[in-house]
Amino acid sequence: MTLIIVNFIKQHVETVPMKAAVIHELGTVPKYEDFPDPVPVDGEILVTMKAAPLTNLSKSRARGSHYDSYKQLPAVCGVDGVAVTSGGERLYCGGCRPPYGTMAERTVVSRAWCFPLPDGVDDVTAAAVPNAVLSSWLALEYRAKLRQGEKVLVLGATGNAGKGAIQVAKYLGAGRVVAAGRNEHALSALPGLGADSVISLSQSDQALAEAFAREAPFDVIIDYVWGHPAEVLLRALTGHDLKAEPTPIRYIEIGAMAGPNASVPSEALRSVGLELSGGGGGSVSRETIVAAFPKMWDLAISGKLRVDVERVPLAEVESAWQRQGTAGRRLVFVP
Ligand SMILES: NC(=O)c1ccc[n+]([C@@H]2O[C@H](COP(=O)([O-])OP(=O)(O)OC[C@H]3O[C@@H](n4cnc5c(N)ncnc54)[C@H](OP(=O)(O)O)[C@@H]3O)[C@@H](O)[C@H]2O)c1
Repeated sequence: MTLIIVNFIKQHVETVPMKAAVIHELGTVPKYEDFPDPVPVDGEILVTMKAAPLTNLSKSRARGSHYDSYKQLPAVCGVDGVAVTSGGERLYCGGCRPPYGTMAERTVVSRAWCFPLPDGVDDVTAAAVPNAVLSSWLALEYRAKLRQGEKVLVLGATGNAGKGAIQVAKYLGAGRVVAAGRNEHALSALPGLGADSVISLSQSDQALAEAFAREAPFDVIIDYVWGHPAEVLLRALTGHDLKAEPTPIRYIEIGAMAGPNASVPSEALRSVGLELSGGGGGSVSRETIVAAFPKMWDLAISGKLRVDVERVPLAEVESAWQRQGTAGRRLVFVP
């Protein structure tokens, strides 16, 4: 009798489709609907999702504007999140095989992109932290090799990643952090996160260039906006013959909220020893990312990292996806 009941439940569960945030066409908003349950193949694990963040990466993949956008549709949205295995292990994970994603009740994740999650950080916060914090951590520690006391400029500092960058820069030993952003109200709160001064991007090009020039030279620039603000900054950084800075400016381009392109004046490259590079999933080795995780969790658990998160039921994905004015606060879906 018990065996009959167990088999009935197994068959029933296997045929009930899971709920997920599904897109059928690039550029549309995902809907909360049924999607076939994933079945893991070699190198993958089936996990039950607990929380998945709504990042700009997830949005731009769904828009079709990211270099890693969907090639196969329909697909489940979401690239990362917190999940549990059938054995009860809590993980931060990603690397879902298309068409699966993390904004779902269940997904399949690559074993290579599963990171054990320590106690002391709740599911929703843990889902929000890596995207907001790792981009600047990897850029500052591994790409720029930030030295104690150096001056860091964060461009696009009012967003989730920018606010993370201010805190990470201070934690890693920056002497002075200058935060530049567009939203005046959000900007005024950044000294509370460790910014030593702020620059408004909402001013004329000339006034903005002067503001950058007053704070220059910078040792490291972490840029989440690119586009026109980056062009104004690059022009403002252009230096002089015979007056070299002792160390190059390490400029790391990470996001493109103000536009995918920016023209780089040749003088900026010649006159200030500018080292221009980028930071993203495809430009950093997996080993480097793996090494950064425990340090990032330690910081999150220490209570020194402030991230603004909002828990949203996955069933509300369609309206949450279109919500305006959430820059700086990470929405996290909970199935
Ligand atoms: N490569 C990576 O590893 C990585 C990791 C994380 C994030 N990113 C990228 O970094 C960017 C920011 O991510 P996020 O999570 O911080 O996003 P977010 O929380 O949504 O914040 C967006 C930020 O961009 C600013 N912004 C938007 N449009 C702008 C414009 N036209 N001019 C100037 N500022 C503008 C916003 O300013 P307001 O406050 O004024 O709206 C806000 O500071 C995104 O492009 C994201 O894809 C990349």
